[in-house]
Amino acid sequence: MAENKIKKIGVLTSGGDAPGMNAAIRAVVRTALFHDVDVIGIRKGYNGLINGEIKEMHSKDVSNVMNLGGTILHTARCPEMMTEEGLDKAAAIYKILSLDALVVIGGDGSFRGMQSLAERGVNCIGIPATIDLDMNSTEYTIGFDTAVNTGMDALNKLRDTSSSHERCSVVEVMGRDAGYIAVWCAMVGGAEDVMFPEEKEIIDSKKVIQQILENRSIGKRHNLIVVAEGVGGTQKLAQDIQNITGIQTRATILGHLQRGGSPTAVDRMHASMMGYHAVKAILSGEENKVVAFNGGKYELLDLEKAMTMEKHLDHEIYDVIKILAI
Ligand code: F6P
Repeated sequence: MAENKIKKIGVLTSGGDAPGMNAAIRAVVRTALFHDVDVIGIRKGYNGLINGEIKEMHSKDVSNVMNLGGTILHTARCPEMMTEEGLDKAAAIYKILSLDALVVIGGDGSFRGMQSLAERGVNCIGIPATIDLDMNSTEYTIGFDTAVNTGMDALNKLRDTSSSHERCSVVEVMGRDAGYIAVWCAMVGGAEDVMFPEEKEIIDSKKVIQQILENRSIGKRHNLIVVAEGVGGTQKLAQDIQNITGIQTRATILGHLQRGGSPTAVDRMHASMMGYHAVKAILSGEENKVVAFNGGKYELLDLEKAMTMEKHLDHEIYDVIKILAI
């Protein structure tokens, strides 16, 4: 498709919101308008596509949104996208709206929705956004840095109170089945230990408790333990630590706190660049691609290829956390 053939694109945010989504919407809208392409904002993710909840986006619609958490387009997890009927309806609305492409800002589930729409003739371009960092095609996903900074801030505060009381603090962070947020929070928050799904068999509660006792014996007066959501059992671990060691222990589950807040500079930068690259890809005639950040550069990957790629958590981070916790 030649550059001047692109007249109108749609943009939606899907799945769990992530700080930086607004900066990505802003970049998509303004890059498109700069190239005389109209933009339709689709509300509430794929639900809005299926139900025709749309809005023409003008430059002023994305003024003053860069600093906002959440998503101005709203988002949803959409069960109808798992049905043939829902998918057919979404593809039909795309055609009725005469869209030349659909920019989807979201995580893996949202990208799977793109695959099904692509089979129905929808040109989908994906921008990776999830606080979990659990998308295999890219080293960065929008929202991760803000979520880790929120976790770090919480750990700083928990350290104050747990050291004042000489307690142990067990902190559960989000991440679904992935441990990226957990290991990053543990490292930058100076935690002594971290339990994350990728290491579940190696780090069990007995080892954590043994470590706490060793640390107390060498004079540490408080303990910070991070647990990934995908491991779970945070309350029970806190109870076990208290029962076995006699050390007062409190559990804190950060939960959705980590999804909110004004995006960090890192998230705003990636979101802006990824939004720009998504629209440039559409203008160059690319079809069914995802934007990724790998090896320090933004790149475009085939949607199908992106969904079969693998990525692994760098276990060296865990080794370093342990070394630095002595
Ligand atoms: O994918 C982002 C995330 O916040 C995960 O860390 C968490 O497991 C999940 O979404 C929570 O989903 P919901 O907001 O639908 O409860």
